[in-house]
Amino acid sequence: MIVAIDGPAGSGKSTVARALAAREGLTYLDTGAMYRAVTLACLERGVDPADADAVAEVAKAVRVSFAPGDGGAAPRVLLDIQDVTEAIRTAEVDRAVSAVSAVPAVREAMVAQQRRIAEGHDVVAEGRDIGTVVFPKAEVKVFLSADPEARAWRRAIEREGGDPTAPDAKVHDKKAYKRVLADIKSRDAQDSARDTSPLKPADDAVRLDSTKLTKDETLDAIAALVDQRRGRS
Ligand code: DC
Repeated sequence: MIVAIDGPAGSGKSTVARALAAREGLTYLDTGAMYRAVTLACLERGVDPADADAVAEVAKAVRVSFAPGDGGAAPRVLLDIQDVTEAIRTAEVDRAVSAVSAVPAVREAMVAQQRRIAEGHDVVAEGRDIGTVVFPKAEVKVFLSADPEARAWRRAIEREGGDPTAPDAKVHDKKAYKRVLADIKSRDAQDSARDTSPLKPADDAVRLDSTKLTKDETLDAIAALVDQRRGRS
């Protein structure tokens, strides 16, 4: 079984996909982490993210893979043999990743690696083009969105080391929140406007708006779709 969860940055995809994977015994595949890893490889090698040919060469030369996290923690992200789990979450990578992921050859290389990783497994994969391009025959497809303000609020809390799903979660640095909001809006615009595999719901995706939902409510809604598909309800 393949569960595809697509949507913009901060919609709660990662949190929900990880929890769903644990609950349903599925392999979790974070495709955004793969585009981030290629972006980091470019930055480390001094390759300009706007130089599509050079970026494509980097994408073809590297291998992105995942290793299990410690006891229930998120999987580790490996760029060849380097553990880049933390290094791919910086603001610098955030700003460059849309340009890198818009390069068709980068997408081709990553989609091939994603399909290879999923081979022979039951998977929950999250990204922007999972239901439309990577796994168009996925048994369950969800397009998860939320208002940009709600998404920026969640990301800003995570950046401060907090947990946005906690009932008393709060943003302390309002200026940082505004920067995250501006970055999210610009990334949304770039990811939606690109020619290759733009961010858009598959025709057969179930659309879910998580603005006013808790993590558990979102998880329950998606788990119900999985149950339905597995004939358990
Ligand atoms: O989900 P994320 O914020 O970690 O994704 C990082 C970037 O990667 C995002 O700006 C768009 C891109 N991306 C993509 O183009 N296709 C995917 N399947 C996943 C992510």
